[in-house]
Amino acid sequence: MSKAGVILAAGAGTRMKSQLPKVLHKVAGLSLLGHVIAALRGAGVDRIVVVTAPSGDEVRAYAKSLGAESVVQDRQLGTGHAARTAESALAGFDGTLAIVNGDMPLVTPEVIQECLKAQGRTGLAMLAFQAGNPAQYGRVLLTPDGFLNRIVEYKDASAPERAVTLCNGGCYAVDAQKFFRWAAALKNENAQKEFYLTDVPSIARGDGVKCAIALADEVSVLGVNSRAELAQAEAKFQQRMRAQLLANGVGMTAPETVFFAYDTVAEADVEIEPFAVFGPGVVLRSGVRIRAFSHLEGAEVSSGAIIGPYARLRPGARIGEEAHIGNFVEVKNSEIGKRAKANHLTYLGDAKVGARANIGAGTITCNYDGFTKAVTEIGEDAFIGSNTALVAPVIVGAGAITAAGSVITRNVAPDALAIARGVLIEKPGWAKAFRDKKGKK
Ligand code: UD1
Ligand code: MG
Repeated sequence: MSKAGVILAAGAGTRMKSQLPKVLHKVAGLSLLGHVIAALRGAGVDRIVVVTAPSGDEVRAYAKSLGAESVVQDRQLGTGHAARTAESALAGFDGTLAIVNGDMPLVTPEVIQECLKAQGRTGLAMLAFQAGNPAQYGRVLLTPDGFLNRIVEYKDASAPERAVTLCNGGCYAVDAQKFFRWAAALKNENAQKEFYLTDVPSIARGDGVKCAIALADEVSVLGVNSRAELAQAEAKFQQRMRAQLLANGVGMTAPETVFFAYDTVAEADVEIEPFAVFGPGVVLRSGVRIRAFSHLEGAEVSSGAIIGPYARLRPGARIGEEAHIGNFVEVKNSEIGKRAKANHLTYLGDAKVGARANIGAGTITCNYDGFTKAVTEIGEDAFIGSNTALVAPVIVGAGAITAAGSVITRNVAPDALAIARGVLIEKPGWAKAFRDKKGKK
């Protein structure tokens, strides 16, 4: 049976109090929408339609960049109305729909698959979960034989209904053709005057179709409606990621202080010290040590390299085997050769550093003239003296030395010494004479 996904992402997201559409807020460096798209793909759903608001140009462009289609919900009349809008994109589609709220970034392929599996029993299924804190989730009331009786939205629920802890997870699986027929019959007679997707099961029952329940864990269906819930989702995502990496053999002395991106790759026997932060696109090969307080994004670090403490690797940093990048060193779009060292207070941008080169404290690649970026090349075994400014484009040959404090404005031949600094003049007794003169006043 072919499958398609519908992601509801047109809501105003008012509770976020933000100019940015809710589904573009990020958890672990990936938008809420990105997480949901990835989970659907992981569950084998390739064709995805995102329901967006008229003002959602940014959301549509983002969905497109991830290979998803989008439709516009003219007015935000509720989740049922939103799901119905996808019909135009799915005309003639005769398979199973997975309909997922766009605001649940912790959803996994596994729980979506569970929902799809449950759908096979009757033609309609939803995810429910036992909530520790049911908050404002819709409450799920069951029939004695374990199917859905109905969902009561928090705002419409009586006190005894609010006491129910089985909640609606915001993910549904349903036969597409039937769904659009049922959704067309929705009414908005409720506290919010909205067309609720959660009323579809009651309509289905009129057709003799029961709604099966797939149980999910509370974390996987966490819905983000406010900044506080976004922070909670981040915390849960990090917990999950840390547990996975520890299980895969990554060492962390204080995992609760380390923050990963959704796509961080760390092989077994990577060691991560406290308070390291990872943005997207980081790959750490086996035997790498990330020392405390380092910040990495878009960087690949080869086996045995040591990064930090207090190092910053920016996009395009490629650190060779057993290289050392030390405290207050920033590396951007640069390749650092095997066993090269830049241990203190340095900026390497758009540079290529050869194997075993030693980059002295305070070295700066001057890679930008305000208009264009230029490349610095440092050959193998070169020795860059402390406080060297390398004005790019420039090449320092293999084995060459630059004297401390030099400003290098042209290429240095292999094995040469380059000195480019003011000549030291010493005036004997000058300082004492100066003090004596001033002191007389
Ligand atoms: C919804 C469910 C609730 C469930 C919870 C799970 C309904 C009526 N309620 O509540 O039972 O427990 O999710 O997280 O479905 N959206 C649109 N167009 C609209 C309205 C909403 O696209 O007109 C989108 C939103 O962008 C959001 C999703 O639908 O991604 C859910 O809407 P939201 O307002 O977050 O619903 P909840 O109150 O969380
Ligand atoms: Mg929600």
